Amino acid sequence: MYSSKISGVGHYVPENVVTNDDLSKVMDTNDAWIQERTGIKERRHIKKGDGNSTSIMGVKASKIALERAGLTPDDIDMIVFATLSPDMYFPGGGVQVQEMMGMRTIPALDVRNQCSGFVYSVSVADQFIKTGMYKHVLVIGSENHSGGLDFTTRGRGVSVIFGDGAGAVVVSRNEREKGGILSTHLHSEGKHKDELALQGPATQHWVPEIIAANDQENIPYYPHMNGQFVFKHAVVRFSEVIKEGLEANGLTTADIDLFIPHQANLRISQYIQHKMKVADEKVFNNIQKYGNTTAASIPIALSEAWEQGKIKDGDLVVLAAFGSGFTWGSVVIRW
Ligand SMILES: CC(C)(COP(=O)(O)OP(=O)(O)OC[C@H]1O[C@@H](n2cnc3c(N)ncnc32)[C@H](O)[C@@H]1OP(=O)(O)O)[C@@H](O)C(=O)NCCC(=O)NCCS
Repeated sequence: MYSSKISGVGHYVPENVVTNDDLSKVMDTNDAWIQERTGIKERRHIKKGDGNSTSIMGVKASKIALERAGLTPDDIDMIVFATLSPDMYFPGGGVQVQEMMGMRTIPALDVRNQCSGFVYSVSVADQFIKTGMYKHVLVIGSENHSGGLDFTTRGRGVSVIFGDGAGAVVVSRNEREKGGILSTHLHSEGKHKDELALQGPATQHWVPEIIAANDQENIPYYPHMNGQFVFKHAVVRFSEVIKEGLEANGLTTADIDLFIPHQANLRISQYIQHKMKVADEKVFNNIQKYGNTTAASIPIALSEAWEQGKIKDGDLVVLAAFGSGFTWGSVVIRW
């Protein structure tokens, strides 16, 4: 068996900054409420006409990741693209990236695991590298949430939290004897599928049905979130799956050099940090600037942390995510 490593990281966020005060102009909310409950100060939203989309942002992030890995699009053997907000119902973002980057007829796989999408995708890439089937897998998390949120007071419990952006990494065969991606751990619990969900358009809520009902009060194509329920489950599952990852490698929380949680909510990150007793400088959060960018949040954070020199060779980096499904997972990396 081979082992894999992350050989390049990149991210892209749209230029358009939307502050909490901007949101309070279109719905009944305020900066104090949002900051107190989520830690978010601002987020980025695609502006109509700025040339961005989920797959285009994915390409922008990927180009940076490839350059930092010292690779060209021809070197990539597979694309894994995670998003819950694709440009089109089908086909998925993977083939769009393959086309836009002029890649060979390599496989393009789309992963639909919402906030855990990136962690799931890294795990998929890791398996293909381990078996020796591929050498370089491009993993992308990208989201255009702003195109699909309810920016009225009715949707405020959800729409203030989410933002747009993309992150990408190249997962490559590890030529060194040690280190790299040590292990990945994935879980799901479908009985909670309705607690954070977007019902339509889909085959259960097909477009003609939605148009015919035209019910302005019960709109299944905006996301629904049972916030407190999600919060309670998130803190438990995050902690479990981090512990699982560390124990599988004979490590403890004291060994962590950098913990990058999915940027769900700053209060969730802080809760887990305190539970694990990890020092502030060992946890990377940027939700304050970008909100929750779902599948993009970990790779954006990873890329920013790397740019800021917070990840050095030999560091133990732990990634963990939780989200709709529910699904959750962790990745333990010796950088
Ligand atoms: C969403 C979340 C911030 C809401 O915080 P909360 O303390 O649970 O708030 P509640 O939903 O109980 O709402 C409390 C009140 O604030 C109001 N409220 C909701 N959103 C608001 C907003 N954006 N601005 C102002 N008030 C708001 C509610 O209407 C409610 O008012 P009421 O008491 O008059 O009925 C919180 O539950 C949370 O972060 N959950 C986890 C979400 C998450 O991480 N999702 C991503 C998972 S990957």
